[in-house]
Amino acid sequence: MIREVLRMGDPRLLRISRPVEAFGTPVLEALLQDMRDTMDHLDGAGLAAPQIGVDLRVVIFGVEGNPRYPEAEAVPFTVLVNPVLAALTTEEEEGWEGCLSVPGLRGVVPRIRRLRYTGWDERGNRIEREAEGFHARVVQHECDHLDGILYPMRVRDFSRFGYTDVLFPDGSTAAAE
Ligand code: NI
Repeated sequence: MIREVLRMGDPRLLRISRPVEAFGTPVLEALLQDMRDTMDHLDGAGLAAPQIGVDLRVVIFGVEGNPRYPEAEAVPFTVLVNPVLAALTTEEEEGWEGCLSVPGLRGVVPRIRRLRYTGWDERGNRIEREAEGFHARVVQHECDHLDGILYPMRVRDFSRFGYTDVLFPDGSTAAAE
């Protein structure tokens, strides 16, 4: 079921989410189905449970042939429960981001360039991956939602934060969201 995505200003986006304690349950399955339906409907690159008002540590993401990200490198569709991120470098990289909870805006956000992420899929199978660049950016953006952090809180240079149609009048977006 397509769910309403909460927008910045809603206090539910600022909560620290709770860990999932049981896998393979109807509740988790229904949550993931709703998240996937909502993300697909909005052509998002990712979605975190708090964005639909559920304070659980669950994110989904994936980019493959998404019309909103024609330039983006492919990121496999992933369900990640109780994720833990570990930086593999101190090096940061800047890139444009947007967020379904911050519609119509884009900003340049510095992110760790390379990291390892671990967690579980919906059945409780362990996931452990290394990622860099755009993939690492998407993971950091989605996992931030679990700690109540929206990307504008990470913007350092507000001269590169604004309305998408003003920043990119030719329709190119080149942004993670
Ligand atoms: Ni977001």
